Amino acid sequence: MIDKRSQQLAAAALGLLPATFLLFRFLTDSLGANPIEEITHETGEWALRLLLLSLSITPLRRITGRNSLVPFRRTFGLLSFFYALLHFSTWLGLDHFFDWQGIIEDIFERPYITAGFTAFASLTPLAITSTRGWIRRLGKKWTHLHRLAYFAAIAAVVHFWWLVKSDVTEPRYYAAALGVLLAARLVPRR
Ligand code: HEM
Repeated sequence: MIDKRSQQLAAAALGLLPATFLLFRFLTDSLGANPIEEITHETGEWALRLLLLSLSITPLRRITGRNSLVPFRRTFGLLSFFYALLHFSTWLGLDHFFDWQGIIEDIFERPYITAGFTAFASLTPLAITSTRGWIRRLGKKWTHLHRLAYFAAIAAVVHFWWLVKSDVTEPRYYAAALGVLLAARLVPRR
C-alpha cells in the first residue's frame, strides 16, 4: 500500500506533466504557428481543469466517506494556481510586454479579461493561505475564505465563455461540470 505522502507527490507529479510537456514543446520549437497563443490556451485550460478537480474532492469525500481524499484538494488547488500564474504571466510578459497602462486598460475594458482577472485575484489568497500555519491562524475563517474557490471557478468559466467567438461547446462542458459541483454542495451532509 502506498503511503499518503507518496500518493500526494504522485498526484503533484502527474499535475506537472502538462507543464513539462509544454516546456518540451517550447524548447523543441513545436508549439505551432502561434506559440504564445498555444501556451495561453494550454495553461488556461489546465488551470480550470485542476480547479474543478480540486472542487470535486469535497463531494467525492462525502459520497465515498474517504477522508484520505482531503489533502488532494490542496494539491490540485495549488496546481491550478500554478497554471493560472503561468497563464497570467504569459499574458503580462509575452502578450503585453509589461506595458502596465495597456494591461490596466484591458482589465477594465475587456469583459473576458475582467472575468479572468477576477478568477486569478480570487485564487491568489487561497494559494497564499494554503499552508498549515495559515490554516491554524485563520481557524474557522479559513473555511469561509476557501469558499472563494467556487467564485473563482465561476469567474473562470465566464472568462472562457466570453472569450470564445462562436462555438461555446467547450465552455459549456466546463459550466455543466461546475454546475454539478455546486449542486453537490447543496446536498445535505449525512
Ligand atoms: C488576469 C488573469 C487572466 C488573463 C489576463 C487571462 C487571459 C486569457 C487570454 C488572453 C486567453 C486567450 C484568449 C483568446 O484565445 O482569444 C485566455 C484563455 C483562457 N483562460 Fe484566461 N486569463 C486569466 C485568468 C484565467 C484563469 C484564472 C483561468 C482558470 C482558472 C483561465 C482560464 C482560461 C481558459 C480555460 C482559456 C481558454 C483556453 C482555450 O482556448 O482552450 N484564465 N485567457
